[in-house]
Amino acid sequence: MKISVIGCGYLGAVHASAMAELGHEVIGIDVDERKIGELAAGRPPFFEPGLPEILTSATASGRLRFSTDMADAAGAEVHFLAVGTPQTAGSHAADLRFVDAAFEGLIPHLADGALVVGKSTVPVGTATRLAERLAEVAPHASLAWNPEFLREGFAVKDTIEPDRLVYGVADDAAAATLDEIYRAALDAGTPRIVTDYPTAELVKVAANAFLATKISFINAMAEIAEATGADVTQLADAIGHDARIGRRFLNAGVGFGGGCLPKDIRAFSARAEELGRGDSVAFLKEVDSINLRRRQRVVDLAVEALGGSVNERRVAVLGVTFKPDSDDVRDSPALDVAVQLKGLGAEVVATDPEGLENARLRHPQLAYEASTTEALRDADLVVLVTEWSEYRGLDPAEVRDLVSNPTVIDGRNVLDPVSWRAAGWTYRGLGRP
Ligand code: UGA
Repeated sequence: MKISVIGCGYLGAVHASAMAELGHEVIGIDVDERKIGELAAGRPPFFEPGLPEILTSATASGRLRFSTDMADAAGAEVHFLAVGTPQTAGSHAADLRFVDAAFEGLIPHLADGALVVGKSTVPVGTATRLAERLAEVAPHASLAWNPEFLREGFAVKDTIEPDRLVYGVADDAAAATLDEIYRAALDAGTPRIVTDYPTAELVKVAANAFLATKISFINAMAEIAEATGADVTQLADAIGHDARIGRRFLNAGVGFGGGCLPKDIRAFSARAEELGRGDSVAFLKEVDSINLRRRQRVVDLAVEALGGSVNERRVAVLGVTFKPDSDDVRDSPALDVAVQLKGLGAEVVATDPEGLENARLRHPQLAYEASTTEALRDADLVVLVTEWSEYRGLDPAEVRDLVSNPTVIDGRNVLDPVSWRAAGWTYRGLGRP
């Protein structure tokens, strides 16, 4: 099929490349000229495993092109809206300016029978509003909402082999068009839920709210574990064996961040309040508070580990991205901890395999070091806050010789306390004795 993807960020660039990989003819559109230039040259403007390969093969095949001109979307039968919906400054609500601008910009270019497919995460009610607008100004086109559940770091796989497809549609024709696009996944047995607009929009925010709640639940248990001498990692293993609970997303630590979970739970609360149902998701405020407290907990542990003050002490911060296998530092707990320690006077040296460029743009006041060895050299304290495999695999005996004081705070509970202690380290985990 002929497809356009409006918005070429983490979501759109992967979606456009994956659709071309599946054999569709795709044009990716974005207002950011630099981003479009990079993508057209086959270079992803962000780190995502597997993306360079499909981007290069799709651009070389001629099935994938990029443009900054919305008019180039004109020939497509299906237009995916994949622009961002960040948190509004000074409020918890989602900022829909990019969605509205992309939608309005697209309207003059919609061919007869074209289908506009929303992928962006939006407050429930948005699709109905856009469908009404379409009925007024472009009745020859229609709208579907098809939320995306990809995880950064696994985005290509999640797009090509999703664990479910959700279509919010107003008629069977839209569902049939989406079936044609996702034929390969459907043939492989991917479950598909065909529903209305509000359900499709809510599925997305409910899924992220549930995941955030699961993480904050285990982090709340970590707080209790800290007060009682229990070990939250063993607790998670034990409750995780109950198939109704499950072990995934029960890793206690410095908490969740990124461009999705934090802003999505806040936007959900804001929307629920607008609907007069704020009480129904009041617990999400608690989920957010528990999450933010974990960052403070790591900072407090650092102060405690250095005898009451981090001032002028050298702290090696391992990781700046919000999770491994990503260069994304949006709302990153790791970067937040580094910034807070710096604010307390510490000589912070932050390192990360992929995130340093983005971190430097946001927080030029921090010292960054690409080499893990150099970041660790002469450190008075080591704080692991993003569980890159390189850090998980550090040899405690080797690292012991680099630092000036062998104390480590394992903000992701991924190091083995026994072997680190045996190598002479003072080890502190989160929610572990
Ligand atoms: C999340 C969802 O997992 C995706 O399904 C969704 O499509 C996406 O948001 C989105 O809305 O676009 P992502 O932001 O890539 O994906 O990251 P996750 O893998 O969900 O991790 C989020 C945060 O939770 C990370 O900071 C991670 O370190 C943290 N986390 C995760 C924990 O602290 N503990 C865990 O057990 C799991």
